[in-house]
Amino acid sequence: MAQGESRRVRKAVFPAAGLGTRFLPATKAQPKEMLPIVDTPCIQFAIEEALASGLDDMLVVTGRGKRAIEDHFDRAPELERAVARSGKDDLLDLVRQTADLVDLHFVRQKEPLGLGHAVLQARRHVGDEPFAVILGDDLIWSERPAIGQLLAVYERYGTPVVAVERVARERTGAYGIVAVAPEPLAPGVWEVEGLVEKPDPEQAPSDLAVVGRYVLVPEVFDLLAAQGPGAKGEIQLTDALEALRRRRRLVAVEFEGVRYDTGDKLGYLKANVDFALRRADLGAEFAAFLRERVAALSPTEGVRA
Ligand code: UTP
Repeated sequence: MAQGESRRVRKAVFPAAGLGTRFLPATKAQPKEMLPIVDTPCIQFAIEEALASGLDDMLVVTGRGKRAIEDHFDRAPELERAVARSGKDDLLDLVRQTADLVDLHFVRQKEPLGLGHAVLQARRHVGDEPFAVILGDDLIWSERPAIGQLLAVYERYGTPVVAVERVARERTGAYGIVAVAPEPLAPGVWEVEGLVEKPDPEQAPSDLAVVGRYVLVPEVFDLLAAQGPGAKGEIQLTDALEALRRRRRLVAVEFEGVRYDTGDKLGYLKANVDFALRRADLGAEFAAFLRERVAALSPTEGVRA
């Protein structure tokens, strides 16, 4: 821990200014963060995860065409009146809850120049404090909120933390990959010895991929500001983390939970199926429907348990 640095993390930053090209045409006129998982926009899960982990000051980095995110977390008096008139109190609660959930702040990334550039837009709001970064399109289902797991490690080691997950070797080119020390610091907690953005499988130093949860320190802003474009011509957060790691210890945590990349069509479908199956009001009927469909679509194989 650098001198004078606090271990208490209050602030969370949600970069949500990406173009979402993998989800076109759905994302042409609406933000991918607002695509629903069953009935709840992805970004709401991210905000709830932060709240459940004790973070109470939230900043969303938005861009062009992202107004729906602001509206979702605002009051909607006309809708509330209409729902109240219909006497559906449970719906009224749902509409109000999202607005009452948290006081959100917004900042715009004027051009989508990369995730690192999006994080840099949070500089003024974050100031001189450690902060969490949550990518809403990496949806994580877990008993203990994923960012809370990282915060616990930050509090223990007093040094920046990234979430990692093991991926198939042939998928390393889609992620930032870490090289780690031979022995973990604790079960699932690794000292990072290097970070590479999107390496080919032959060049990848491990199968541990960085996913969308971080606990960072303000020092990262200077590094991002000084940094030129990296992979894909974007200002990459991974490059700033590698520069940070050269200055101080960086720790990677294999979190407990299931991650869904909801910015990807297949990941999005998987998230919807799993979240629907976990729902008390839908799960049983939906499971029966899926069994029926699988049986109908593969008549020779039938349904395997
Ligand atoms: P992605 O790599 O998923 O990029 O960004 P994207 O542009 O959102 O989506 P595709 O690849 O075109 O489909 C990872 C995270 O970084 C944010 C995104 O909103 C997402 O949460 N991001 C990315 C920004 O906020 N600004 C950027 O310039 C780029």
